[in-house]
Amino acid sequence: MANSSAQIQNICCIGAGYVGGPTMAVIADKCPHLTVNVVDLNQERISAWNSKNLRTLPIYEPGLDQVIERARGRNLFFSTDVKSGIKSADMIFISVNTPTKTKGLGSGQASDLRWVEACAREVAEHAEGHTIVVEKSTLPVKTAAAVQAILHSSNLPNKDSDKSKSFVVLSNPEFLAEGTAIADLECPDRVLIGGEDQEAIKALSNIYSQWVPQEKILHTNLWSSELSKLTANAFLAQRISSINSVAALCEVTGADVREVAKAIGTDSRIGEKFLSSGPGFGGSCFKKDILNLVYLCRHFGLPEVADYWQNVVTINNWQQTRIARLVVNKLFGTVTSKKLALLGFAFKANTNDTREAPAISIAKDLLEEGAELAIYDPKVDANQIALDLGVTETKANIGQKRNKESSLNNEGTWWAAKSLYDASKGADAILIITEWEEFRSIDWNQIGLIMRQPAWVFDSRGVVIKDKVKSAGLKLWIVGEGFND
Ligand code: NAD
Ligand code: UGA
Repeated sequence: MANSSAQIQNICCIGAGYVGGPTMAVIADKCPHLTVNVVDLNQERISAWNSKNLRTLPIYEPGLDQVIERARGRNLFFSTDVKSGIKSADMIFISVNTPTKTKGLGSGQASDLRWVEACAREVAEHAEGHTIVVEKSTLPVKTAAAVQAILHSSNLPNKDSDKSKSFVVLSNPEFLAEGTAIADLECPDRVLIGGEDQEAIKALSNIYSQWVPQEKILHTNLWSSELSKLTANAFLAQRISSINSVAALCEVTGADVREVAKAIGTDSRIGEKFLSSGPGFGGSCFKKDILNLVYLCRHFGLPEVADYWQNVVTINNWQQTRIARLVVNKLFGTVTSKKLALLGFAFKANTNDTREAPAISIAKDLLEEGAELAIYDPKVDANQIALDLGVTETKANIGQKRNKESSLNNEGTWWAAKSLYDASKGADAILIITEWEEFRSIDWNQIGLIMRQPAWVFDSRGVVIKDKVKSAGLKLWIVGEGFND
């Protein structure tokens, strides 16, 4: 029975993914008095979380290994035993995936809530006593009503233990960004808690207040909290589409998008963050959350509002296609059998996550055009790239020889290079897609010597030092600035 903060002793988190794993690791680290069980159906993932080798944790996040080392086995446990995790918990976080529906009503836009519903049913069945259920997943506004309905349908005397169960649902969306997850969790801009039950809100607030200043813990009603998460992502994504649209205008007018971003970002009402023009936003959430918002707007009879947000996604898709198209155009209208080095495959730096990565759509477009891609990413392995592209690696292509087969059948091929230098050998062009630190300090003189001339560099992140690329004799395109040749 746990209806006040003093009684919370045991937490369970269902879902050991990018959010569940790091979030619970930080809670366990900051609250050694709590027992934190992270449960997941995926045995491989749980084994990786339990791996002795901290380099093989299932996700790469700077600083995560140290947090895990401190807490795991002390008060942080990873397991596939979902039932026991639920049974022993006073508070249960639902942190499972909520992807876009691919079939049925709302297909292509609405969130697929089958995993959330499955969790609610599991909790309803196995929880004991009073349990606070916390929505950690990003959910459409009003989902808590469905979760409550499922949970309350089980508010019956527990036949096994003869104890009655009761539930309170809170919304506590997560705002961490990948690559900075630990810093975001340890020092959040805010923690948002939505709900009506004051005791439950206090219990959850007291956990965060172990390390988060009280004034950063915001309380709202359930629906505001659910909707704030979708809105935050929509606003962030909107800034990226806005700056990318201006980047295209800069390229044809002689303006420089970085100068424009700086000029507008110094206005405190606009702010300097999230104004980096790039190959379009990727990641598992921006697109799905905006599409979900679009769906909700239509559902609630607001087609104009839906169209407004839809355009943020439309511009993003356009940006990715635009980059692939301009590479082809610049390489004399064809990349068939040309070697292109793709630097970076993760959707952003400091993560191994490739979900919705712009590299995927750009690479697919170039493969379609018959290119031979040498793909290098410091954290993404060949298996993941093959899964994302839906094309197996052509290992025979490793090295400098051009692939005769692909030039005959006009189909593109790819292979995973071990370094950016391997990728660049004999290449006609280099495309920088992810802003990994090592791409900022490339020795362009050395690269210029190993590429096939005339050689191009397409910098979709604006990370290269222009003069160094040009003095190495390479032609250069930078997003939001255009061609420098
Ligand atoms: P993920 O796919 O990495 O992890 C979800 C995990 O839940 C998977 O390991 C899956 O096996 C497990 N799972 C699904 N159903 C289950 C069940 N019934 N029982 C036990 N385990 C189950 O997803 P994620 O990236 O961690 O995202 C989770 C949620 O958090 C999503 O709603 C997402 O929108 C949101 N979110 C994600 C991020 C991010 O950076 N990735 C940030 C903020 C919010
Ligand atoms: C984003 C939000 O930043 C988090 O607050 C949120 O919790 C999370 O989504 C989520 O709900 O999943 P994330 O996708 O991990 O986090 O990473 P971001 O740093 O937001 O980057 C998203 C994409 O936008 C990346 O492809 C990145 O390269 C791109 N981006 C970001 C730009 O192109 N320009 C920028 O100025 C910033």
